[in-house]
Amino acid sequence: MAITFCLYYSSPETRDYLTKVVQASRQGTLLEALPLAQLPDKVNSGANAVFLEYPGEDRVLDAWIRRTTADHRNPPIFLYFQEITTEQLWKALRLGVKECFVFPIRPEEFQEALDRLPVLPAELGPAEPTRLTAFLGCKGGVGTTFVAVNTAYLLAQESQGQVLLVDLDLRYGQMVHFFDVKPQYTLVEVIENAENLDRSYLQSLFYQYDKNLQLLPAPLRLEDAEVVTAERLDPVLRYLKKLRIFSHILVDLGQNLDEPALKVLEMAENLIVVANQSIPALSNAKKLLDLLELLGLESATFGLWLNAWQKHGDLSVEDVSAFLGREVRGTIGHAPREVTRSINEGQPLTRQEPGHAVCRDLKLLAAQLSGRETPESKASRWGLLKLFRR
Ligand SMILES: Nc1ncnc2c1ncn2[C@@H]1O[C@H](COP(=O)(O)OP(=O)(O)OP(=O)(O)O)[C@@H](O)[C@H]1O
Ligand SMILES: [Mg+2]
Repeated sequence: MAITFCLYYSSPETRDYLTKVVQASRQGTLLEALPLAQLPDKVNSGANAVFLEYPGEDRVLDAWIRRTTADHRNPPIFLYFQEITTEQLWKALRLGVKECFVFPIRPEEFQEALDRLPVLPAELGPAEPTRLTAFLGCKGGVGTTFVAVNTAYLLAQESQGQVLLVDLDLRYGQMVHFFDVKPQYTLVEVIENAENLDRSYLQSLFYQYDKNLQLLPAPLRLEDAEVVTAERLDPVLRYLKKLRIFSHILVDLGQNLDEPALKVLEMAENLIVVANQSIPALSNAKKLLDLLELLGLESATFGLWLNAWQKHGDLSVEDVSAFLGREVRGTIGHAPREVTRSINEGQPLTRQEPGHAVCRDLKLLAAQLSGRETPESKASRWGLLKLFRR
């Protein structure tokens, strides 16, 4: 599908240069090109994006950009600079600009920006409430990130709207490696700018992985984890849910039950607890499930999933159920070679080998989250879980 641009430039040389950049991309096409002196008050409603040259400090232009980005019906703005300072870059982001380019623009850099453009609101489904799902591991290494990443990918393929995957494993989050991406921004920028949040500014901080999947990574440095507190996370999550731009927000909590994780659990509609077939993981699972129940998190639809499940292992699903006093919602098969390869190659297995048995299991989990589950599976609510207890 073509992506139409309105181009506003300061000189004919820039016009020709930027026209070439747009036309060299896969989908880019020009709708109109006007000198900055004729910048229209309102952006052409047929445009998918605005390409604007920023010739230097200009309050009038800043005000135009702010006005344009504040109205979410307007297309996103790409800014072009001959040269740029760090201050200008930050200012541009605060103004709600989607992308900044500096001369010379590499074709692949521009193409990546086009691929990151979010689906336009008109292409999204009806504004359903956003469903927040937390993935909590009983123990390190049980596959929480693998399960969260692949579930997010599957939900995004259903095209019921945009899906956001947040890495809240604040110290050792590894989500970016599972997708082999290097997003420019992390949770830190979102939290630090929480008071300036608006729709387009927020979306400029998320990394668009593909048409319907956006990513928000954990902080890059260990010491930055401190920035993400429960108090600061709360308004961000509330705002994101209120916006209704995402059909699903999935959060990888790792094995953390710290304050930010509890905040997510408090607000989540779904909680997926991930364990595996080992005694240490199951013994942790028991403690964790007892605690969660004690904390009164009954409102979330709960599911215990056993990852890397080996049918002919030492324990059967019934053994695990009996040990935990709770129903096991599902199992995800054991495929060390394929799973490790997908992680090392930075491609979700559900993308790389969608027909694999492990992906069929993951599809059942995605179906549960998108409300396509069977009536029996709904029995896995906390309230009913009490019936299974010793
Ligand atoms: N279904 C599976 N079959 C076989 N191996 C798996 C499966 N899922 C995950 N693994 C393996 O387990 C390892 C850990 O996976 P992952 O990083 O997703 O776990 P985690 O619980 O998020 O770990 P961490 O505690 O580091 O956050 C991976 O290297 C992967 O190879
Ligand atoms: Mg992990």
